[in-house]
Amino acid sequence: MLTQIKDLTTQLTPRLIEIRRHLHAHPELSGQEYQTAAYVAGVLSSLGLQVEEAVGKTGVVGHCPGVGTDQRVLAIRTDMDALPITERTGLAYASRQPGVMHACGHDMHTTVGLGTAMVLAQLGAKLPGTVRFLFQPAEEIAQGAGWMVQDGAMRDVSHILGLHVFPSIPARSLGIRYGALTAAADDLEIFIQGESGHGARPHEATDAIWIAAQVITTLQQAISRTQNPLRPVVLTIGQISGGRAPNVIADQVRLAGTVRSLHPETHENLPAWIETIVQGVCHTHGATCEVNYRRGVPSVQNDPALTQLVEQAAVEAWGRDRVQILPEPSLGAEDFSLYLQEAPGSMFRLGVGRPDQGNPPLHHPEFEADEGAIATGVVTLAYAAWQYWQHLKRPEEPPLTPA
Ligand code: NI
Repeated sequence: MLTQIKDLTTQLTPRLIEIRRHLHAHPELSGQEYQTAAYVAGVLSSLGLQVEEAVGKTGVVGHCPGVGTDQRVLAIRTDMDALPITERTGLAYASRQPGVMHACGHDMHTTVGLGTAMVLAQLGAKLPGTVRFLFQPAEEIAQGAGWMVQDGAMRDVSHILGLHVFPSIPARSLGIRYGALTAAADDLEIFIQGESGHGARPHEATDAIWIAAQVITTLQQAISRTQNPLRPVVLTIGQISGGRAPNVIADQVRLAGTVRSLHPETHENLPAWIETIVQGVCHTHGATCEVNYRRGVPSVQNDPALTQLVEQAAVEAWGRDRVQILPEPSLGAEDFSLYLQEAPGSMFRLGVGRPDQGNPPLHHPEFEADEGAIATGVVTLAYAAWQYWQHLKRPEEPPLTPA
């Protein structure tokens, strides 16, 4: 089967490169992927897949039914949106949309998703169960996965696979990660209310700027003294505003930041922990405050059994040398984690690095993915999907409760 998948992918590669260049030249911002979605739906329909459009606003779902009796549904997710960046690659197929660029490689993801659908549609008569392709919008603003879930894209899904390109891994290689792959990312906003007064008479006022400085310092120190160092937390205050004149004590300050964590238990406890510290500092110095903690996406936690299945499929397809086990997670965020609240899944990194070109990072105006990685992604996903039906055991039946 592996040989058949590789041969099919080789035949499809020129068409897939055409698709990728079309998508790259026509990027669309998060939540506005109208033409991309129509294009994806067109390709999926031409394969004979049952297609649903406008799932999660501009998302597309394709169903590739198997012929067997296995009721499980395996989902494969790719994202479609681009970034507000002006491309500077100088490529012939560079963005034709001013100020918008596929600088995160989601054009590669969409192409790999379509390529996998092409391969699996041809194997459909042999697939024991259904594969559902999720083409998601708005990943860059961490909204699209939630929209898709809300519209039922994960209904009856037993497991889900995903991937993201990665320029620091050489093209045609893969990175597999057991456990946490990305961090939970939450938003924090703090309003401190003091009492204004003359800059020369601090004892008659409550200085909100000085208290804000105490809040920031105390939060950073408390991370090192009260959080488990083996369960990292990063708190960055990226915005601070307050005060009206150099000689007037400020009565109000607003702080805003991002909070990243890896461990689910830490993530759970962070809002109450931050609230206690901020309230305590403000209370001590006679100010009042309001803490608005908004949960963003949780951490991506890869399922061990499915990750092992992907690793084995990749090693069989490409050899051990081209499959790295990633020793560390990233503190970046990825809304793939919202699917994992519905079903176990695994996400891997697809190497697109071009060391000869200096490897600009993701979200860089000169980022350029090596197109050789398209076939690597397609074969890995298609073969992992094939192996899924053969090797991943069904969950154990629940034990009978005594009457
Ligand atoms: Ni991305």
